Amino acid sequence: MTAQTRGVEKAWVRAIAADSLPVDDATRIEHEGRCIAIFNLGGKFYATSGICTHAHAFLSEGYIDGQTVECPLHQGLFHIPTGTPLSPPVTERLETFETRVSDGYVDILV
Ligand code: FES
Repeated sequence: MTAQTRGVEKAWVRAIAADSLPVDDATRIEHEGRCIAIFNLGGKFYATSGICTHAHAFLSEGYIDGQTVECPLHQGLFHIPTGTPLSPPVTERLETFETRVSDGYVDILV
């Protein structure tokens, strides 16, 4: 299935088995050279760009608290569902990706 968004064609990509990621945990995948973080927040899955917008740190290794993730390098805070930066030093939002669970897998629209 494909979708049109702002003139760029997107497609669903099968990312991980849904039962492989515990609640309130995160992991990351590589897709076509992009690093994408996947979060399980209370059983609902979210996907964002996997690298902090401040410097090179993997957000999947950050501290998850509710709907936020704290970057492991300089402790910048992001709202996971929207990618919004919440506290310095991060000022640039994270790209976010739509997710769905299909046949026991988490798919990401990229
Ligand atoms: S690398 Fe994430 S806050 Fe600096």
